[in-house]
Amino acid sequence: MKKPIYLDYAATTPMCLPALEALYQCLGAKAAFGNPHSTTHLYGFEAKQIVEESAELLASLIHAQPQELIWTSGATESNNLAIQGAAQFYAPKGRHLITCATEHHAVLDVFRALEKQGFSISILPVDASGLIDLNQLQASLTPETSLVSIMMVNNELGTIQPMDKIAEIVKANGSLLHVDAAQALGKLPIDLTHLAVDMMSFSGHKVYGPKGIGALYVRSNPKVHLQPLWHGGGQQWGLRPGTEAPGLISAFAKAAQFCIENQDTHILHVQQLHTLFCQHLQSIPGVRFNTDIAHAVPHIVNVCFEKIDSETFLLALQDEIAISQGSACASGTTNVSHVLKAIGLKHLQADRSFRFSFSHLTTLSDLIHVNALVNKHLQYSDPKGVHHCEDE
Ligand SMILES: Cc1ncc(COP(=O)(O)O)c(C=O)c1O
Repeated sequence: MKKPIYLDYAATTPMCLPALEALYQCLGAKAAFGNPHSTTHLYGFEAKQIVEESAELLASLIHAQPQELIWTSGATESNNLAIQGAAQFYAPKGRHLITCATEHHAVLDVFRALEKQGFSISILPVDASGLIDLNQLQASLTPETSLVSIMMVNNELGTIQPMDKIAEIVKANGSLLHVDAAQALGKLPIDLTHLAVDMMSFSGHKVYGPKGIGALYVRSNPKVHLQPLWHGGGQQWGLRPGTEAPGLISAFAKAAQFCIENQDTHILHVQQLHTLFCQHLQSIPGVRFNTDIAHAVPHIVNVCFEKIDSETFLLALQDEIAISQGSACASGTTNVSHVLKAIGLKHLQADRSFRFSFSHLTTLSDLIHVNALVNKHLQYSDPKGVHHCEDE
């Protein structure tokens, strides 16, 4: 069976060769399968060495120290550990936390859980491009604000927040800054010696590494303290107890190296795809770009087809292109994307929006084919569509 053209790289990516090789190196009886915490034999030493070398590699790629990295199961866990861990540890200093409306649920839902525990939270709105207002950030900070969490690249729109300016404002208030960089690693340069961020979350499967592995960067100077979420064998400074997974860790570090070392070439290629795709869509009536391409990575384009019936459109395309919809329908209720709502879309516009995400693996001929398919299926337009979108 011919599979659809995959344009959902912001959801997940296939593993690259260096990551696969690193993973194999730790699987099976003849491989380095030991427990990195076994300190009495060669099997343990071998595994420990792989974990340590991986920390050195990932740290060097983001200009951090190896001991500033905590391995987690992915960006969701990293976000939880950073936000809950810091909020709890620094609660005696202040119980006010700030984030923004377009964050991933792995941030927003942690904030809501903390609110139920008595923390006060501020959720900053965004403009039509998905950017926060820096004056509003400044005005929201109080002496009680212990933590601000703002993502670097938005997963639905691709919007890049001005992280250096955000860091300047937050640090001047003496608050901690956490950044969800799951969508930024390998797409934008990350230099933690220059960027005044206290904690940063990463995910393996967004950078052509395996699923089930991620990392949290926690600054050591000045030292950031976290209250652990779990208790156990004391691994990783007691902050994330449990046996580390050398294969996953090493595959993640190698994948990050692959992405960062090839970042410029990959971006040039993706930029070409992006131009071809956007130029084509610009010529079609009833197409609206939800992504502000002047403020976004070229890997993600979120588009609203105002005249379509989204279900028919998606069904017609499903066998040929794998894309993601800005809304999810469950048991008769439609949950419209909170991100699209936050940039001002009406319900129907959000329902008719789709995220196309590209990669170095996407070819120009894939894109030409995709453009032809989009054209063809736009014939399934709902004549009442425009009316609905405007009216709502
Ligand atoms: C911005 C962002 N944060 C967090 C996550 C969650 O990452 P993970 O699947 O590694 O838990 C994702 C993945 O969709 C994401 O895009």
